[in-house]
Amino acid sequence: MLSKSKIQTQKLAAGLAKKLLKMKSRKAKVVALFGELGAGKTTFTQGFANALGVESRVASPTFIIFRKHEVGECDLHSHMKHIFHFDLYRIQKTSEILKLGFKKIINDPNNIVLIEWPEKIKGILPKNTIWVHFEHGKSLNQRSIKISR
Ligand SMILES: Nc1ncnc2c1ncn2[C@@H]1O[C@H](COP(=O)(O)OP(=O)(O)O)[C@@H](O)[C@H]1O
Ligand SMILES: [Mg+2]
Repeated sequence: MLSKSKIQTQKLAAGLAKKLLKMKSRKAKVVALFGELGAGKTTFTQGFANALGVESRVASPTFIIFRKHEVGECDLHSHMKHIFHFDLYRIQKTSEILKLGFKKIINDPNNIVLIEWPEKIKGILPKNTIWVHFEHGKSLNQRSIKISR
């Protein structure tokens, strides 16, 4: 789709969040956010987290690799409890992520995991990962966003 504003991008993310919440799976739900700096990955994550009732501020975790947020009260019945927001911009090797307990995080069905710069760990992304591709559009506030799996 073509997003014409930050708000529109956040609404799209909220829609995906609600959809994922209803889906059953035996492992974590993983959303990989591809796109250059300023493309809207963090903005999307904010919309996604807010839709799930996250109250803590969702900022870019660039300097700490990841942040964990608690899913708040939402009207949908779900076992989802935690949102992990990774920003892999600064990592060099997949092993750095494995050391942080990545495998355990993605195997826990109570987790939703959003990953910025997922190309850094392509080899260990689970096969049911949802891919979101962001591209800058023609004007300042335009972004092309494609969701696939
Ligand atoms: N349609 C849009 N969707 C998302 N962000 C937008 C849009 N238009 C403008 N922006 C702005 O672009 C910037 C995107 O930054 P951010 O989400 O941090 O990108 P990234 O995490 O991909 O580096 C924000 O300042 C946001 O307000
Ligand atoms: Mg970011």
